[in-house]
Order: sequence, then C-alpha cells, then structure tokens
Amino acid sequence: MPQVLPSILAADFAHLADELARCRAAGARAVHIDVMDAHFVPNLTIGPPVLAALRRCTDLHLDVHLMMSDPLRYAEDFREAGADALTIHVEAVGPRRIAAAIARLRDLGVAVGLAFNPDTDPRLWLRWLAEADLAMFMTVYPGFGGQSFIPEVREHIRIVRQALPRLPIQVDGGINRHTIPLVVADGADRLVCGSAFFQDADPAGFLAWAEGVAR
Ligand code: DX5
Ligand code: ZN
Repeated sequence: MPQVLPSILAADFAHLADELARCRAAGARAVHIDVMDAHFVPNLTIGPPVLAALRRCTDLHLDVHLMMSDPLRYAEDFREAGADALTIHVEAVGPRRIAAAIARLRDLGVAVGLAFNPDTDPRLWLRWLAEADLAMFMTVYPGFGGQSFIPEVREHIRIVRQALPRLPIQVDGGINRHTIPLVVADGADRLVCGSAFFQDADPAGFLAWAEGVAR
C-alpha cells in the first residue's frame, strides 16, 4: 500500500503548526520537508531552526529532503533539529563521496535516502541504493512545487523496483490524482504530494484514495 507524505512546501508558511495538524488530521503519518540552499537548486527555503520548531509541535515522521550542494556539512544540524530521515542527492555528493556520505548519515542514526534528478541514471548507483533505506526519484527538476510530472522517470522507477524489490521507492514532484496510478504501477510506494494535497478541498479524501491505489 502506498503512503502519502504531504510536502509542506505547498503549506501556508505563516501557520505551519496548523498545517502539520491538518496533515495529521487527514491521516498522514509523515511529512516531507524541502530544504533548498540556493546553490544546488535556484531557490531557498528552510533551515535547522525552522525544522526544530516543527519538531516541537508534531510527532509526525519528518522526512527531510536536502537539496543542497554540501548536505553533509549540515546533516548533523538537521538531525539535532529532529529529522527522522535525511535524503541527499547523489548528484551533490558524487561517486567518490557516496560511501562516506552513507556512513555519515548512518552514524547520525537517521534513515538514509538517496535522491535522483530526472536525468540521473539509477543503474550506476544500484550498489549504493542497496545500502540505503530509500530511493527517491525526482519526477520534476527540483527547486519548485507545482511543476509537471516528467514521464521519462517512470523507467528509472521500474529499473530500481526490479533490481531491489524490497527497497522503499519515493517519488517527488507533480504527484497527483493523474500520476499516482502510473507511479504506483511502476513500483513506487511513497508519494510526496505538495500541491495535490494542500490544494485539495478534501485532503483526507485525497490521502485515503491515494493510499488505496493498488499496484
Ligand atoms: C520540489 C520539491 C517537492 C515539492 C513537490 O523540488 O522537492 O517536494 O514540494 O511539489 P508538488 O507536489 O507541488 O509538485
Ligand atoms: Zn522534495
């Protein structure tokens, strides 16, 4: 059964505590938090102090997506602020630093996610994915909410699902009522939803529908 993670990038930043409560009331068990450094992506969002404030007002699993050129420099700060999972981009750490990066995140005691941009071939990274807790496929180029799903990424999901049948696969970007049945059929089981969740008149209904979509 897929799981929906509302992405708070689409929430009302003036009322984040209320928005987290709204996620919980809708049935979410985890929320997705987008950290952007204005370098790896052309946008700037939240840092450890805001994450710590969120941690103080919720017991939801905090799934933190580090869209940063140097994620390891800040990983401990995000862990201390309350992250349960830290997902780093393989493009940011590169093949020479990936082993050390995974080891560092393990030391911090967080769930380890590896994220892939739409044009990154996951076949080159299967050996490292086997050591991770999560593969996350960007189904848009990261940086902004509300973009359109890139269908070419579906093939990447299928490749990893076949190679690593038990690895949780998360998708992020343009995930909505139209694209959820496609990515679930490909093997995705965690669905990051920004606009589709927060702009729905009935987020609880949306979440229940999405989590009921069968593979
Ligand atoms: C984009 C972020 C996403 C974003 C998704 O770079 O990583 O998590 O919130 O937003 P939607 O669901 O609106 O495409
Ligand atoms: Zn994200």
